[in-house]
Amino acid sequence: MELQCGVCLLRPWRESDATGIVRHANDRDVWLNLRDRFPHPYGTADAHAYIRSVVSQSPPLSFAIVVGDDPAGGIGLRPGTDIERCSAEIGYWVGRTYWGRGIMTAAVRAVTTYAFKSLDLVRVFALPFTDNAASVRVLEKAGYMREGRLRSSAIKAGQVRDQYLYAAVRPGP
Ligand SMILES: CC(C)(COP(=O)(O)OP(=O)(O)OC[C@H]1O[C@@H](n2cnc3c(N)ncnc32)[C@H](O)[C@@H]1OP(=O)(O)O)[C@@H](O)C(=O)NCCC(=O)NCCS
Repeated sequence: MELQCGVCLLRPWRESDATGIVRHANDRDVWLNLRDRFPHPYGTADAHAYIRSVVSQSPPLSFAIVVGDDPAGGIGLRPGTDIERCSAEIGYWVGRTYWGRGIMTAAVRAVTTYAFKSLDLVRVFALPFTDNAASVRVLEKAGYMREGRLRSSAIKAGQVRDQYLYAAVRPGP
């Protein structure tokens, strides 16, 4: 299962991605905008552990973002459970070398379409920190709507933070 986005290719992770991804993932400015389950510092053992945890997903929910031959970042869906199983959170990051080239906008669009067309999902949402202007812009360009501001909903690097709730809902038939 591969999603061709023009500026990048999204494909399931491979063990051989581990070395290449560390170069991009081991970056405090990337970590600062992600959940703490994304380690920092980020070493090869972290990459192998992550890749092993997602490599046999069926259907795939986590994709490497590949630019040229370079595994440059990741994007994935976390479906909810119980009555929220029709809904998934989208999470994403790309190495700073590639920021500002439209890569994540293309990747978010592709994964959102995949979620609606190939998975049984009707809603995809994201929770960027309110000061993550680049991520907010990505979501808006990809057609997500801001549904609210979750005040003091997270703590990162010792600071309590607000998050926006953005969502896309599957278009009707
Ligand atoms: C956020 C992130 C995913 C964006 O990826 P990207 O590939 O650079 O995104 P794109 O190039 O598709 O779009 C970025 C947009 O944000 C804009 N932008 C970037 N920094 C900005 C800022 N400080 N203020 C306002 N807009 C900004 C860019 O100009 C661009 O918009 P434009 O096309 O209208 O010019 C990337 O910076 C990243 O991985 N950051 C660290 C992890 C992270 O924040 N993940 C998201 C967690 S919710």
